[in-house]
Amino acid sequence: MPTATALAHPNIAFIKYWGNRDDALRLPANGSISMNLAGLETRTTVEFDPRLGEDEFTLQGTAPKGMALARVSAHLDLLRARAGKAWKARVASENDFPTGAGIASSASAFAALTVAAAAALGLTLTERELSILARRGSGSASRSIPDGFTEWYAAPKDGQSYAESIAAPDHWRLVDLIAIIDSGPKPVGSAEGNKLARTSPLQKARTADVPRRLEVCRRAIREKDFAVLAEIVEEDTRLMHAVMLTSKPALVYLDPATLILMRSIPQWRAAGLSAAYTIDAGPNVHCLCPEESAAEVERRLREIPEVRQILCARPGAGARVVPQRSPDETDRGYADSAWKPLD
Ligand code: DP6
Repeated sequence: MPTATALAHPNIAFIKYWGNRDDALRLPANGSISMNLAGLETRTTVEFDPRLGEDEFTLQGTAPKGMALARVSAHLDLLRARAGKAWKARVASENDFPTGAGIASSASAFAALTVAAAAALGLTLTERELSILARRGSGSASRSIPDGFTEWYAAPKDGQSYAESIAAPDHWRLVDLIAIIDSGPKPVGSAEGNKLARTSPLQKARTADVPRRLEVCRRAIREKDFAVLAEIVEEDTRLMHAVMLTSKPALVYLDPATLILMRSIPQWRAAGLSAAYTIDAGPNVHCLCPEESAAEVERRLREIPEVRQILCARPGAGARVVPQRSPDETDRGYADSAWKPLD
């Protein structure tokens, strides 16, 4: 049977995607920049079988409830159409991190699904084509296709909206310490949330200023200027949550403990510890820091009782085909770090 396995990392956006100009095509309202998160991964195996009557999908070994299968099937339809094949598929996906907790599992999910399905169908696609296809499954998945730090372009046409690498994973030894406050699924997923962005009177102002924020962020990455990165990433997070809080209905993803960290982290920075927060559509706080600060940042996060668990990620490679799982293949990013997380 035509089968392939792919590995993809989720990513954390430094400049956020929130809202589409076209919901069906997932053409975003604004460009965005992110970092792939080595240390967290999704592995997906796609096996096409001409004898199957329907697609089958398991996540962590069980068939998920709700719309997950329909979304996977619709995505496979795009790839089947490319290959001119009608075969149904068995899809098995495993995350090694909590699903649906604001760690952008849809990004790694659709990046891995796109790469595995394309390989199993024998399609030879460029990175750009894979990024465009991944975008159709989940917008942020477009950014998990290329390596390292990536930028996804907002454009009016399907073939123009894709992500490219702007720096390799080893360009900058950043660490993302993800403070898990709540690992349950979020009440409103980002697919529905994205559709509400336009109902906020603040969305226009947020997107109008994105070109400036993208430029500041690109330069901070290029020059490895953490002080500049910290300010722009935090500002962008607050702008996105301002839109969420003022959409109709309102989306309140922040927990009281999220706000504790939104106050503490800038105070740590003002006192000389390099750290910055960024928060996606969930309560958990991604605490970015240069490698040298990671041990101290981790120590401080552990002192906060509401922080239940800390995940550690480093800049990661893009989505790729891998052999079926062998236990020692897990990609943790740069391997020669002097600092080792306690978990
Ligand atoms: C808050 O890419 O998950 O994480 O395209 O509807 O699947 P869909 O949405 P998704 O939205 C992610 C939004 C975000 C910010 C970001 O990653 O840029």
